[in-house]
Amino acid sequence: MKILVVGSGAREHALAWKLARERDVSEVLCAPGNPGIAEVARCLAADPARPPDLLGLAVREQVDLTVVGPELPLSLGIVDLFSARGRPIVGPTKEAAALESSKAFAKDFMARHGVPSARFRVCDTAEAALDAIAGGEFGLPLVVKADGLAAGKGVVIAEDRATAEQAVRASMIEGRFGASGSRVVLEEFLTGQEASYFVLADGVSCMPLSSAQDHKRIFDDDRGPNTGGMGAFAPSPLLTPEVERRVLDEIVHPVLEGMAAEGRPYRGFLYVGLMLTAEGPKVIEFNVRFGDPEAQVVLPMLDEELSWLLGEAATGALPSRPARFRNEPHVGVVLAARGYPDAVETGKPISGVDTAAAVEDALVFHAGTGRRDGQLVTSGGRVLTVVGRGPTYRDAIDVAYRAASHVHFDGMQLRRDIGRKALLGSDPGDGSTQGVDTSRIRGLTP
Ligand SMILES: Nc1ncnc2c1ncn2[C@@H]1O[C@H](COP(=O)(O)OP(=O)(O)O)[C@@H](O)[C@H]1O
Ligand SMILES: [Mg+2]
Repeated sequence: MKILVVGSGAREHALAWKLARERDVSEVLCAPGNPGIAEVARCLAADPARPPDLLGLAVREQVDLTVVGPELPLSLGIVDLFSARGRPIVGPTKEAAALESSKAFAKDFMARHGVPSARFRVCDTAEAALDAIAGGEFGLPLVVKADGLAAGKGVVIAEDRATAEQAVRASMIEGRFGASGSRVVLEEFLTGQEASYFVLADGVSCMPLSSAQDHKRIFDDDRGPNTGGMGAFAPSPLLTPEVERRVLDEIVHPVLEGMAAEGRPYRGFLYVGLMLTAEGPKVIEFNVRFGDPEAQVVLPMLDEELSWLLGEAATGALPSRPARFRNEPHVGVVLAARGYPDAVETGKPISGVDTAAAVEDALVFHAGTGRRDGQLVTSGGRVLTVVGRGPTYRDAIDVAYRAASHVHFDGMQLRRDIGRKALLGSDPGDGSTQGVDTSRIRGLTP
C-alpha cells in the first residue's frame, strides 16, 4: 500500500514514522513534509491549502490511501474532492469538518443531540453579543469564542464585563480574525481538569484510541500566552475506565449518530476536548483531526497497524473494538524557537538531534525544521517534539528530558514541567492537580 500523508508538522512526522514501519506499506509519501519526515518518507512539494494540487499528486503517484494531518485542507473540502474522484482518503468532509471550523455549528449540534457541554449563546451581531453580556446570563468569568478557525487565538476567558465586551468588539467590529470572528459564541465558564480523547471513525462506527493531556501555555505551571501546544502525555490518568465509558456513551456515540442522522457522517480522527467537571465530562471543543502534540505521544503507543486501521476507516469497515496500545506512558516535550508563540526567529542551526534520537526509548519528531547547505536549521515556532516512553510517567518524563538535553539551537525554549500533571493526577486522594505543592515533584529537569 502506498500512503500519502498531508502536512508538515511533528504530527505528520509521527504518522509517517509509524506508517513507514508497517508490513503492508510499500511507500510513504508526504506533502510537503520536512527534513525529519524525509528520513522515513518521500517528500513532495505541495501546498496543503490547495486540495486540487494534492489530488493531482495522488493521481500522478497512484497513491492508494491519503491521510490528512492539519484542519485547513479538511475545511477546504479535500475529502470531498478526493472522494468525488474515487480516491480513498481518511478525514471528514467539509460539512463534517464544521464540528471544528464552526464553533457555533458544534454548539448547536451538541444541543440538538443532548451532548454535555457548557451553556452558550450564538451571537450573529456585536449588538446581540453586547446585550447578552449586559444581561449577565452566564455570569463571570465569561468565555467569548470566535466562531471560525483562528489558529488557537480566538478564545478569551473574560474575568470581567469590560474584557468580554472588548473581546466581542475585537472579533466582530475590528475584524481581528477576519470572517472567522463575524459570529461569536458566549459560553458559561466550566471548572475542572482538561483532557482530550481520540477516536477513529468510519462514518458509522468508531474505534476508541487513547486519551491525552496537553500543555497549551508557553511557560511552566500553565502561565503565559496560549500556544499550539508545548508538550503532551498519554494516556491521561484522569480518563479512568469509568470516565472513558461516559465519554463514549454520552459524547462520542451520540455525536457520530447525530452526524450520520444529519446527513454528514463523520469519518476520520476525532479529537474530543473535554472538561472533567463535577457533573461529569463536558465537551469544550472538537477538532476534526489528530492533535499536535498529542499525535506524537499517542501514535508511538499504538500496538497495531495504523495503515490497516486507516484503510478500514476509509472504506467504512472499521471494527468497533478499542485499538490496541502498549501499556507504557509516553511524554512529549516541544522545543520551540525564541519569540514563540509570537514572531519567531528562524534559520538557527540545530545540533544534537541524532544524539537525542539515539537515547534509548526516545523519539524525535520534526516540525519547524529546514535545511540550509546541508545543515539542519530552525524554520518555525515549534521546532521539534522529543518523546520519551517508559514503564511509568516518571520514567517517560526522564527519558524525554534526557534526550531533549542533547538538542541545541539559539533561543531554544521548552517547558520543564511536561508530564508533571500525570504524576499528580495519579496521586491518591481526590485526583485534583490544583493547589498541590509542586516542590514535592523531583527529577523533572535534565
Ligand atoms: N466553557 C469553557 N470553560 C472553561 N474554559 C474554557 C471553556 N471553553 C474554552 N476554555 C478554555 O479555552 C481553551 C481554548 O478553547 P477551545 O474551545 O479549545 O478553542 P481553540 O482550541 O479553538 O482555541 C480551552 O483549552 C480551555 O482551556
Ligand atoms: Mg482547543
